Amino acid sequence: MDQQDRTMNLAMVRVQDLTSGYEESEVLKEITMSARRERITAILGASGCGKTTLLKHFIRLYQPWRGSIHLFGHDITAMDENEFNRLLHKVGVLFQNGALLNSMSVAENVAIPLEQHTDLPREIISRLVQVKLGLMGLNYASERLPSELSGGMRKRAALARALALDPPLLLCDEPTSGLDPITTASLDELIVKLRDQLGITVITVSHDVASIQRIAEHVVFLDKGRLLFEGSLAQAKKSGIQLIEEFFAKG
Ligand SMILES: Nc1ncnc2c1ncn2[C@@H]1O[C@H](COP(=O)(O)OP(=O)(O)OP(=O)(O)O)[C@@H](O)[C@H]1O
Ligand SMILES: [Mg+2]
Repeated sequence: MDQQDRTMNLAMVRVQDLTSGYEESEVLKEITMSARRERITAILGASGCGKTTLLKHFIRLYQPWRGSIHLFGHDITAMDENEFNRLLHKVGVLFQNGALLNSMSVAENVAIPLEQHTDLPREIISRLVQVKLGLMGLNYASERLPSELSGGMRKRAALARALALDPPLLLCDEPTSGLDPITTASLDELIVKLRDQLGITVITVSHDVASIQRIAEHVVFLDKGRLLFEGSLAQAKKSGIQLIEEFFAKG
């Protein structure tokens, strides 16, 4: 096995020469990047540079104009709908506005993916839901409605739902936005714990420099739709690239 094969095997997500956009306007330009197994990868860059668009490509919410995207080693741009849906069960998604359903309790919200995608009996589902809520430190809130939770608890509940089917890959878009620094730090701790204890691969988009410094191992920095830098957090900080240095100086 040569070096390139080894790298490909370790990549949970691999993007090659991705160019895409909305209507006529090009947003992502020849992006090549990868996210490695059991690492926390952060996608960074100024507002509007294309971070959310890139993340959404990983779950095929958009089709590339050019280039390829591999998820778990499979080219998702060349996959039929059934095959892709099966793969999608292996991806947990925590989007900023991925709101919980307000008319349902926390436990009922977390049960949704299990009810939709498995035929497990009710009592097993409810046990699995309690295990997920326990992992998030939320057992005591299982019967509450989302409106009765604090911002940090709502994020944890949404995380429990995203992880209901035990996906090996978790995608997060601004998971800590709107949270105070202490709540942010505890959500960061939880994300690191998921990686350490469950071996989950995490790809997160964030603006929060303190949070990125706590959790990110691999950094993908975009500038106006182009890849400016990819490497470790330590390499990013001493990259000598002014935009990146300014970004970390904010923290
Ligand atoms: N659905 C859409 N239709 C048309 N243009 C869009 C759409 N979504 C995003 N864009 C444009 O694409 C560009 C990249 O947007 P994107 O949301 O990916 O940026 P971002 O890096 O996530 O920004 P932010 O940090 O503010 O969330 C922006 O110019 C945005 O206006
Ligand atoms: Mg965004």
